[in-house]
Amino acid sequence: MAKIVIAYHSGFGHTKAIAERVHAGAAGVNGVDATLLNVEELPAPGADRSLGGRWGELNAADAIIFGTPTYMGDVSWVFKRFMEYSSGIWFGQGWKDKIAAGFTNSGGLSGDKLQTLHTLMVFANQHSMIWVSTGVTPSIYTGDGKDLNRLSSYSGLMTQADQGPPDKTPPQGDRLSGEAFGARVAQATQRWLAGKA
Ligand SMILES: Cc1cc2nc3c(=O)[nH]c(=O)nc-3n(C[C@H](O)[C@H](O)[C@H](O)COP(=O)(O)O)c2cc1C
Repeated sequence: MAKIVIAYHSGFGHTKAIAERVHAGAAGVNGVDATLLNVEELPAPGADRSLGGRWGELNAADAIIFGTPTYMGDVSWVFKRFMEYSSGIWFGQGWKDKIAAGFTNSGGLSGDKLQTLHTLMVFANQHSMIWVSTGVTPSIYTGDGKDLNRLSSYSGLMTQADQGPPDKTPPQGDRLSGEAFGARVAQATQRWLAGKA
């Protein structure tokens, strides 16, 4: 059973709506155990660097998919706090060779989301993780009628929400893109695990 954790933050629910679809896409792959984890609930490391709460789920995962809104052109501060809390794990390279991938949601069509994905990618690489790309040809080229990868992102999933409640926006195409992304990372994780066995 491949264990995948979707570790996300969401200030107002829009990134959470996508995280739920990424989770559904990963969980829909046979032989995958996928879990959602809001990084806001993770406690700070203890003085001895011990990590309580749900940190153990991240350490036990075969893959971690990171998700954050883009705030001021980068990850949210809550997500950055999580990144810095993980530095004790980095010190022991505890996440080395886990599969990693990332997604971000923002208000602008661009909104500087690539900066956020780069931050997530560098973070994963500092942990010596294996980064998985989006792997879906953008709908502007395929005319797929579903708007998969509407924002034409390759380094990770980008989604966009208008001003409105998270049950209305991001649009359906972005939600379907979240499912496809979760499934791709799950399948990549299974291949990686099979190759290691
Ligand atoms: C503090 C703050 C900074 C933001 N900065 C950006 C930005 O740099 N680019 C952008 O496109 N949208 C930006 N937005 C809009 C959010 O990305 C957008 O509302 C998003 O849907 C919020 O996701 P959430 O509901 O998961 O928190 C910002 C919003 C806030 C609250």
